[in-house]
Amino acid sequence: MCGIVGFTGRQQAAPVLLAGLSKLEYRGYDSSGLAVRDGDSLAEVVKATGKLRNLAEKIDNGAALPGTCGIGHTRWATHGEPSQSNAHPHVSGNATGSASGPVESDVVGVHNGIIENYEELRAKLTGNGYTFYSSTDTEVVIKLVDYYYKKYKIGPIDAINRMMVRVRGSYALALMFKDYPGEIYAARKDSPMVIGVADGETFLASDVPAILKYTRDIYYIDNLQSVRILPGEAHFFDLNGDEVEMESTHITWDAAAAEKGGYEHFMIKEIHEQPDAVRDTLASVIKDNRVDLSVSGLTPDVLKDISEVHIAACGSAWHAGMVGKYVIEDLAELQVTAELASEFRYKKILLDKDALFIVISQSGETADTLAALRAAKERGIRTLAVVNVVGSTIAREADNVLYTLAGPEISVATTKAYSAQLVAMYTLALALADAKGKLEKNDYDYYIEELLALPEKISRALENKERIQWFASKHSNSRDMFYIGRGLDYAISLEGSLKMKEISYIHSEAYAAGELKHGTISLVEKGLLVIGLLTQEGLLEKTISNMEECRARGAYLMGVTSNGNYNVEDYVNFTIYVPKTDEHFAGSLAVIPLQLLGYYTSIARGLDVDKPRNLAKSVTVE
Ligand code: G6P
Repeated sequence: MCGIVGFTGRQQAAPVLLAGLSKLEYRGYDSSGLAVRDGDSLAEVVKATGKLRNLAEKIDNGAALPGTCGIGHTRWATHGEPSQSNAHPHVSGNATGSASGPVESDVVGVHNGIIENYEELRAKLTGNGYTFYSSTDTEVVIKLVDYYYKKYKIGPIDAINRMMVRVRGSYALALMFKDYPGEIYAARKDSPMVIGVADGETFLASDVPAILKYTRDIYYIDNLQSVRILPGEAHFFDLNGDEVEMESTHITWDAAAAEKGGYEHFMIKEIHEQPDAVRDTLASVIKDNRVDLSVSGLTPDVLKDISEVHIAACGSAWHAGMVGKYVIEDLAELQVTAELASEFRYKKILLDKDALFIVISQSGETADTLAALRAAKERGIRTLAVVNVVGSTIAREADNVLYTLAGPEISVATTKAYSAQLVAMYTLALALADAKGKLEKNDYDYYIEELLALPEKISRALENKERIQWFASKHSNSRDMFYIGRGLDYAISLEGSLKMKEISYIHSEAYAAGELKHGTISLVEKGLLVIGLLTQEGLLEKTISNMEECRARGAYLMGVTSNGNYNVEDYVNFTIYVPKTDEHFAGSLAVIPLQLLGYYTSIARGLDVDKPRNLAKSVTVE
């Protein structure tokens, strides 16, 4: 999704803004732009389509755009095609979209989010003499702020507040007003934005990595708050325009954690960080060999009264929810649903009053997941967020929070955050089962032992790297792939298939193995790669039979199984073994070769692994 940066201070703004935008590239973008002011002079706007280097080249890496105050943006198109005229910054006055140079306008701004009632507002503004030169909703918000600013002759904060009351949708906005040199005004609703103040300078960004170089003390702007930023100062205001005190959050993870650290891509670095992500997440909730979720507010007393569990999430986080469903149902003997947040949010909500509603999210900002959380909260149901980003909107709004400790994840395709989500779900399943008296002590101890052994086993699963790289290069020209499994193996197939399609652009589908005969098998033809997940002993032979049916129609078979299941080799063409663990947790190991397969296939095809086309790391619009 779009990335925003802002800076006001002593240094030259353009290089700071370019460096900040490069740290936000992982969010996905198709064009970029800057507006910089030199003292009292007019803001100069420069925009470029494509990669950030195109923008950097236009302004000689910042040298050609002097000034110590500015805003910047990477755009991920929602309203209006990716183009120079739709790229931000946008202005309140008249301008042609492609023109770069000084802008006469009173308000210049950048935006992340979606304004739902923009057509109605555009018509109103057009009626009031405004002309639009782009097809973006952003231009509407900026002109609306300008309209109130002039009509009521009020200051920037009051004009922004009037705009916030009038627009529907989500936004993070950074604006500069011609009459207020050296200052930036910002506001947000449901789209993330953070601020850092250090050494007489102030930084603003959509996400922490963009400003971590300057400070670790970060202010998370609240929903419907606005901010006035001056060099070394940030003043926060509520919707009434009254100034409010804000506490900063100290970031403990290292800036280096958001760098590639010698790896060729963030994705492969993050794949290798999985043993640590899992170890740290487990260590945060397993004390003296017992799961203790009281830090999240989930004491045994709370857990024992939970009647049913509902999970909502998007993408890989939903896949982690599917795994959670199988494991909680089996260990705690509770009814569990796992739904796509985008579906859940528009349904009639039929949840028991003692239900636990869980949302899972790496970023803590996914729009549909946030909306699902709010819908459940409105019904008075206890909510738990399993979130990676500390201080994110979802983390702040849920009743209880269980943090995954994966550290910053930059690659668009998630790996380590997903793995940390899996173990968070395992520990929740164990805590629920224990609170409900469903486990013998011996079994409980055994599960804890198996959980604690996972990080080392994940490291061993990574040792398959070379074989998978070889296999990936052999199959990198495939047109289609199928991932099949039953039960937990099906849940892992979903994630494996997504890892393949999102970064290699090869069509792939995950299927519950038993469903193949109901349609999909008609697609099997000579040479098609079918990948069977075979970690659940009771279901393994059945999935192998389904794979055999594919082979009979020309498919090439790959199996992923646990050490010990050596007869799998007799049935499939290529077998990957992962260390043996309790079957409830086997997905944490089986997913590793599937992540590697996606990664190496993308590499073999020469694609942009960390920033796949059309995708965004954090989907902050519906
Ligand atoms: C995007 C990312 C996925 C992620 C999904 C949900 O599609 O590319 O990797 O699983 O959003 O994001 P969240 O931050 O809520 O986990």
